Amino acid sequence: MRIYANLKCNHTRKSFENYAKNLDKFCKNSNLEVKVFAPASAFMENKFSFKIGAQNFYPCENGNFTGEIGFEMLKEFDINSILIGHSERRILGEDNDLLKAKFEFAKDKSLNIVFCVGENLEIKNSGKTKEFLAAQLQGVDLSYENLIIAYEPVWAIGTGKSANLGDIDEILDFLRTLTKAPLLYGGSVNESNINEILKIKNCGGALVGSASYEVDGFINLLKDIK
Ligand code: PGA
Repeated sequence: MRIYANLKCNHTRKSFENYAKNLDKFCKNSNLEVKVFAPASAFMENKFSFKIGAQNFYPCENGNFTGEIGFEMLKEFDINSILIGHSERRILGEDNDLLKAKFEFAKDKSLNIVFCVGENLEIKNSGKTKEFLAAQLQGVDLSYENLIIAYEPVWAIGTGKSANLGDIDEILDFLRTLTKAPLLYGGSVNESNINEILKIKNCGGALVGSASYEVDGFINLLKDIK
């Protein structure tokens, strides 16, 4: 089972060193596939019993792209997993053209891509979630072998209000008609709901934000997985 943590804009290099040390100890004796999407300023060599991934990158090796992170910088740390399309990046202005360019670049480099999709509340309430998700996936090669899709309803992210199990089941069933890629759910996953979520038929794991920020809390969540 894949349990991926998105630390977002949390942790300094120093605090992440401690996080990594503790998580490494736990993961040495665990069968879970754990990845932590760490802030770039805290990247460390990928030598732990869990993998470090990048929350963001720019589709370039290097160059005149002020403030961006190029492939060369990921390679230095052996980072080969990246998030694309997280709603918090889309809200900052990453449009479909940029997401497509990121996808193509990452595919070309054989990176493990976690491509995030999810509807906002307005779309959910209008009953158009499936069409919306299909549109978000347009231009994405859904047969790419290192692709994972994360379904993360925007209204469930960071709100403490996860989607209900029936809705997640229905959406993952729908995504399964589009791709054979592993499917994750994200959006207020925590210790008390993770087992029910992981039992959903097409659910191949979870993308965890808030409940992963404190290493002890994250380890407890991992320990509780049945
Ligand atoms: P959350 O974040 O668990 O805090 O809702 C999930 C995510 O944004 O990936």
